[in-house]
Amino acid sequence: MSLTRVSRSDSLELQEGVYNTAFEEDGSRAALDETDAQVEADRPSASVNVDGELSSYTQIKPYAGMPKEVLLLYSSQARYRLPREILFWLIVACTLALIALSITVIALSPRCLSWWQTSPVYQVYPRSFKDSNNDGIGDLKGIKEKLEHFLYLNIKAIWISPFYKSPMRDFGYDVEDFRDIDPIFGTMEDFDDLLISMHDQGLKLIMDFIPNHSSDKHVWFQSSRRREEPYTDYYVWANCTADKPPNNWVSVFGNSSWTYDPLRGQCYLHQFLKEQPDLNFRNPHVRREMTDIISFWLDKGVDGFRMDAVKHILEAAHLRNEPQVDPSQPPELVDTEFELYHDYTYTQVGLHDILRAWRVELDKYSREAGRYRFMVTESYDYEEIDKTMMYYSTDFVRESDFPFNFYLLDLPQGLSGVRAQELVSLWMTNMPQGKWPNWVVGNHDKPRMTSSVGKEYVRAINMMMLTLPGTPTTYYGEEIGMENVHIDEEDIQDPFGKFNPNATRDPQRSPMQWTGGLNAGFSGNNTWTWLPIHDNYTTVNVEAQTGDDGSILEQYRRLSQLRETELALHRGWMCFVWSDADVFVYLREQDGLNRGFLVVINLGRAATTDLSSVSGLPEQLRVHTSTIPENQGRSYSRGAVATAEGEGLLLEFSSNQRFHTSHASSCYISEKACYLSVLDIMYRC
Ligand code: GLC
Repeated sequence: MSLTRVSRSDSLELQEGVYNTAFEEDGSRAALDETDAQVEADRPSASVNVDGELSSYTQIKPYAGMPKEVLLLYSSQARYRLPREILFWLIVACTLALIALSITVIALSPRCLSWWQTSPVYQVYPRSFKDSNNDGIGDLKGIKEKLEHFLYLNIKAIWISPFYKSPMRDFGYDVEDFRDIDPIFGTMEDFDDLLISMHDQGLKLIMDFIPNHSSDKHVWFQSSRRREEPYTDYYVWANCTADKPPNNWVSVFGNSSWTYDPLRGQCYLHQFLKEQPDLNFRNPHVRREMTDIISFWLDKGVDGFRMDAVKHILEAAHLRNEPQVDPSQPPELVDTEFELYHDYTYTQVGLHDILRAWRVELDKYSREAGRYRFMVTESYDYEEIDKTMMYYSTDFVRESDFPFNFYLLDLPQGLSGVRAQELVSLWMTNMPQGKWPNWVVGNHDKPRMTSSVGKEYVRAINMMMLTLPGTPTTYYGEEIGMENVHIDEEDIQDPFGKFNPNATRDPQRSPMQWTGGLNAGFSGNNTWTWLPIHDNYTTVNVEAQTGDDGSILEQYRRLSQLRETELALHRGWMCFVWSDADVFVYLREQDGLNRGFLVVINLGRAATTDLSSVSGLPEQLRVHTSTIPENQGRSYSRGAVATAEGEGLLLEFSSNQRFHTSHASSCYISEKACYLSVLDIMYRC
């Protein structure tokens, strides 16, 4: 091997008398000697160090400034090549191992639960929640004043019924401006302020969205009446005369769903009040407008929507008569919803495409971490539960996160343990696999359970809601056991109640009972609140129940905390165990955890239940929580589990056996995962 000429600058590092073993191979030492002689001739007496100072050479800096050829020579030597290659392959191996590890972790990680799964949803009816300006009607500032209440109850998701600008014929469900706040409830600043405060405290705001109709005062409807473009076809118009509607369709609130408009000389469709004309979703402009409104509120930061009355969104364009339930009934007497089969007005083809398009819109805003936007649909499908389940859609085409489950509202009809199991099972057996269940026992449209089943069962029902798998919805006041208020017929406010006093929704909308003081702490108005306060408010109120361990409120609070902290309760298996006239019994367990729960809900009379015929149950069960404080800490053998009338029992046990493995047909799980106690993690199993 020969070396090429070493320049003056190159020679700076090759100093006299310095011996480098790297040059020993292949007679290169001789070549170097030659070069050294040349270098010697050219060598300066001093060199420049890295700081630019002149200094004498005292020591070699190995390889620094070494010419490429020399470096190549060194680098091919085994003592350099080997470590280099070892290091290289080590890095490759580590990188591959890291990639494999990441893939394994991703593949083994179970899905995290989202905020709408971990917290109950709490429904605020804003007229009745808290009045901040003493006008007798609740408002947004009032809600803001009470955020502490949600935090106390461990509730993170708040659905607020409509507060849009509205003539209030249906108390906000008749919207005059979808982008404005009604002055009764406050201003847009109040809304922004409320949302900021909620987010600051980790709370999520779900708005009501009312797509099916607007108010007749909406500028779109007024323009449509005058056939002004582009609004002419924003609503569903049909030829008719003042006394003869286009067909036999009836409104949910009773009577014909058509009203003649003398200005336009046609009838318009309204599936609710005549002041709530149906929007025409076959018109692409209307679809665009409604999607833009959704984006408007998403841009503001709202966390989700409760989609109102969705099954009504489309109706058949042919406008044929709907078949009567009783064909022998004189057609002119058919004036209520339940007297027709709604083949042409409910759940029409195309409805799900509209909802899925809204889901896509919501998803655009969900990408930011922790900002998932939620969608729940409202549709009462009664015995056609498959229609309700359609709103869950599929894993590939998503729609609502869940459709409201209204089936427990039927609990009062034949209240018993068997009835409860039947209704819970109805949902669990029909729900598509892997979807998330939910439970509703009250809302602003339905009588409170306290009044329909009796207040003695309210604690047990709350316990059932908070220990079943899935998301419970709590209608304001359920957490303290509020009851329906009596309203004299002449005082009815609800338009539905005015048509049919027996169906009035006012009783379940009475003001929230905060304290034992003036207007139950709801309003400082000395003379008036929009609906009367229930006269039980001196005992049934938040203040009186706070801190009282045995109160409905404190029991709710404990259970809602437990629901979040106990894996078995918030994401474990649910298995039906037993039901009879008195009790409904189910089990909650988590793969990988030895601790499980047996829930006994008494919806009948005091009973001692013998569960010894159920295989796989542990012998001894300890009371973790009872709605009767004296029973706290007791133990029962599975052959004799005693419950009082209306008692809810959460029994805990420890077992190495999994119940669901031997009772597969009566067990359900949504987000299957196993717990690994050594690492305290969950993994997909
Ligand atoms: C929904 C609401 C109800 C309202 C109706 C019309 O069902 O829950 O209160 O009257 O829609 O918007």
